[in-house]
Amino acid sequence: MIKHLKSLAAVAVAGTVAGPLASMVVAKPLTYELPEETSVFKPGPGIESAENNCAACHSADYITTQPPHMGRPFWEAEVHKMISAYHAPIDDTDAKAIVDYLAATY
Ligand code: HEC
Repeated sequence: MIKHLKSLAAVAVAGTVAGPLASMVVAKPLTYELPEETSVFKPGPGIESAENNCAACHSADYITTQPPHMGRPFWEAEVHKMISAYHAPIDDTDAKAIVDYLAATY
């Protein structure tokens, strides 16, 4: 029991020493990285076509949260699904530009 109390005291002493030290550490400028933004399109050639056509019904999250490197056939199918299943008004030229952009960027 006494031994136990001694070690508690040691923890308390360590706490008072570590306190001021900890605030010295915190006083340094903090740098940290924010997680990557998911609600905007990643920069890349053709981004305008995606911004103009793919954010009308839902946010870019639907695209940015897909698994990475799915490849061109996946994105081709996605874009055509948006057009045929959900009636996205996207012409062939834009659709191709968007598939190029998505396949290269995501
Ligand atoms: C006309 C409206 C509309 C437009 C424009 C649109 N989408 Fe969608 N999108 C939807 C709907 C509806 C869903 C399904 C939402 C749900 O299941 O909650 C969806 C879902 C998605 C998903 C999630 C996976 C899936 O298949 O459900 C992806 C990826 C996606 N869209 C990509 C795109 C891309 C890329 C474009 C631009 C070419 C686009 N969308 C444009 C309506 C649209």
